[in-house]
Amino acid sequence: MSNRRNFLKLSMLTAAGIASSRVLASSGSNDTLPQNIIYSEENPGRWPKKAGSHLPMVTVEGKKVTIKTEHGMSEVHYIVRHTLVAENGDVLGEKTFYPTDEQAISEFEIPDGYSILYATSFCNKHDLWIMEVNI
Ligand SMILES: [Fe+2]
Repeated sequence: MSNRRNFLKLSMLTAAGIASSRVLASSGSNDTLPQNIIYSEENPGRWPKKAGSHLPMVTVEGKKVTIKTEHGMSEVHYIVRHTLVAENGDVLGEKTFYPTDEQAISEFEIPDGYSILYATSFCNKHDLWIMEVNI
């Protein structure tokens, strides 16, 4: 059971990583993925009014990275998960939230050698959002 869970988790993160880099690398009409799969500040897709409350906001202090999504947490509408993935696909951190959590905030310690990271935040109603961070 644990192997299956790990496989699914890895598959989801891998897919998100590949998709996000394609979305971030593309611009305007040259997108390689259909719109409305992954959202970013530059590409809020069908949720243009939701960017402020769904983009993962990242702060870096030394080796500590903090991800915060300014989004309410309730039983019917909440942030499900944060991930932090390096440019090469290394998963550096992940945290799953529950509706009873007060805030969607996560902290990770980053090993040496990484300069470009991708933070993701997934809302149960407004999908997957990504923020690129240069450290
Ligand atoms: Fe939402």
